[in-house]
Order: sequence, then C-alpha cells, then structure tokens
Amino acid sequence: MKQVRRIGMFGGSFNPVHNAHINLASSFIKKLKLDKLLLIPTAVPPHKSDSEMVSAEHRMNMCKLASEDHKKIEVSDIEIKREGKSYTVDTLRQIREMYPEAEIYLIMGADMFMTLLDWKEPEEIFSLAVICTVPRNSDDLESLTEKEKAYREMGAETVILDLKKSNISSSKIRKLVFDDEVFSKFVDPRVEQYIYANYLFMDKSKINYERFDKVLKARMSDKRYIHSFNVSTEAQKLAKKYGADVEKARLAGILHDITKETSGNEQLKIIENSNIILNDVERPSPKLWHAIAGAAFVRDVMGIDDEDVFNAIRYHTSGRANMSILEKCVFIADFIGAERDYDGVDEMRALSGKSLEEAMAFGLSFSISDLAKRHCAIDPNSLACYNEVVIKTNKSYNKSK
Ligand SMILES: [Fe+2]
Ligand SMILES: [Fe+2]
Repeated sequence: MKQVRRIGMFGGSFNPVHNAHINLASSFIKKLKLDKLLLIPTAVPPHKSDSEMVSAEHRMNMCKLASEDHKKIEVSDIEIKREGKSYTVDTLRQIREMYPEAEIYLIMGADMFMTLLDWKEPEEIFSLAVICTVPRNSDDLESLTEKEKAYREMGAETVILDLKKSNISSSKIRKLVFDDEVFSKFVDPRVEQYIYANYLFMDKSKINYERFDKVLKARMSDKRYIHSFNVSTEAQKLAKKYGADVEKARLAGILHDITKETSGNEQLKIIENSNIILNDVERPSPKLWHAIAGAAFVRDVMGIDDEDVFNAIRYHTSGRANMSILEKCVFIADFIGAERDYDGVDEMRALSGKSLEEAMAFGLSFSISDLAKRHCAIDPNSLACYNEVVIKTNKSYNKSK
C-alpha cells in the first residue's frame, strides 16, 4: 500500500452530499497532490437536531456512493462513532495518530474559515493542519485573504483555492426534493437513486404518484414495477366493483411489493425499526418478510398512515381472518395482474368477477398446497383466512368430494 504522506480532511453534514462537494474534494486532491482525502460526515449535535437532517447512516451511505469513482476519497465515520460532542481538533488529533508521518490539510467552507478562531483550540488546529478553503463568491476573496493574513501571523499555514463558483447547496437540494422538483444535475445518479429509494427529504404530507414511480423504480426491477402497476390497476377495478375505496386500492396496489427486491437484512431492519415482532412462522420464512416490511416502510418511512392501506400491504401474501374489502381486493389483484400467466389464472380472473371470497379460496388453496408440497411452514394467518373463506363459500374439500 502506498504510504500516505499528504492527507486531506473534509468534514461536513453532507445532508446530502452533492457534486460541488465532490468537485471541491477532487480539486484539492489535485492541487495539493493529496494521497488521500477523508470525507467525514459529522455527527448531529443534540442541540442542532434539525428535522431535515437524515441519519448518519444515510449520510455516510450517500458519501460512499458519491465517491465510488474517486479512488483517493475515503469516507470516514470517525466523527459519527465518537461519543459526545465532536470537535475538529479532536478529529485532527485522531488523524494525526492514524497517520503520524502525514501532512494534514483541513478543508472547509469560507464561512467556517472566517470563524475559525471561535472553534475549540484554534492554535492547536493551526499546529496540526494546513487550513484550506475556497471563496464562496467573488466578494469573499478579499475578506478571506485578510483572515488568512491574521492566521499566518499566528503561525498557521493556509491555502485558498479560487475554484469555479458553484451555486449548489444541500439545503437547495433538500428543497427541490421536498417540492418534487428535478435535482438530478446536482448529485451523483447513485445518490439520486438512494434519496428516492429511502424516501429522504420528501414531503410526506402529499401523495404524489409520479414521486412514487421514482421511488419504486429506485427500489425494483422494471418487471416488478410493471407487476406493481398491474396490481394497482386490478385492485382499483375490484375496489370499484365491490365497494372499497378506489384511491386506497390504487395506493396499496402500487406500493404492495415496495420491499420485495430489498435484501433480507434490510427488510428485517425496517421491520425492527417499526417495532414489529415476527412470530415463529414469520421469522424463519423470508418470503413472508416483504409484505410486513413493505407495510412498515409505507407507514413509517413514507408517512402514509392509513390502517386499511397498511393491512392491505401487510396481508397481501398471507391473507388473514376478517380481511376488509380493500385487503381482499389487493390480495386478489396480486394474482390476476395483466402480466400474470399461470395455470389457473383464467379461473382466478373469472372468480374475481363473481365473488371476492371464491377467488380468495381458489388463490389460497393454490398457494397453501404449493407450500405444503415444498414442506414449507404455513402462516397461521393464511390458514385462518382459508378456513374462513372456504366455510363462507361452502366449498370445503370434504364437501366437494
Ligand atoms: Fe408480494
Ligand atoms: Fe405482488
């Protein structure tokens, strides 16, 4: 491994990280011939708990995505991991310990540069690192140069890099996301996808299907997206026919598989974050997780707090006793979306036009027998649902014999 002689440190909340951050980092790497630059997301100080500030984990992940193509940029969690209040001087000391031979370059924005003397132990900062900044606008340069002179008199080494001005800011990006406006030119495409997939900075008080499309496309393949769209269409038709809320059917249908292509670990994390405890059948059956995680994601991450929509997603694979009409519509729609093509789909479609319960009984006998054949555990909710609809439709196995 190449020895690190010149290391840059660039801290910030990175909420979210954007192209100007990465350009700044790259310019300093080039100009100062840095071997490495540490991008250090700051921990959120408790007194500054801004509701717009997303978790440290999200900010770290976005920094990693944005710097994936930049070999010399490394994302560091040293400030996030440190307990209590984080001071730059402590981070510098830590970097000095990690890289005792290296020269450290502390990179910061112009406003930070101007207020450096108010920080904890500024003289110690001067002794540990070369202080680097860029003017924010053309008027800045003069005041920065004046400050630089004062710092140098105190023994500091400084670098002011006059980069091409950028008018990007994290707060501007947050506003664009919140207003459902395009922000792709300001961030790396992977960061844009991450923001949609994790529903960051969005206006949770407004239902916007165009936004949901982007969220779905960021979380799943085209094939799954088409399936979701078809389920939504069928769920709306059934809701209209059987008297459920058509808008809720549209919503639950389009979002029902939102975590279907999410990794098992992430599904479990979503479930855990929503304080949902899996039962003895659910825990060892990963196929059941996506419905539970999906409902939790829609309610707790996307902020769509409607009990019927939650349950329609939560029970769309298993079913359960006493399902609402909406729940039944989504359950059946999942079997009969336009792209579905399996033996029995025509009968399922025909039954769904006749009676919700008959279609449910047909669908459940199909999935339960398939599970039994493969020696898989059967969710007690499915059995309860099956018994209920079979008794109701008076078509039990014994009777048909
Ligand atoms: Fe599903
Ligand atoms: Fe589905």
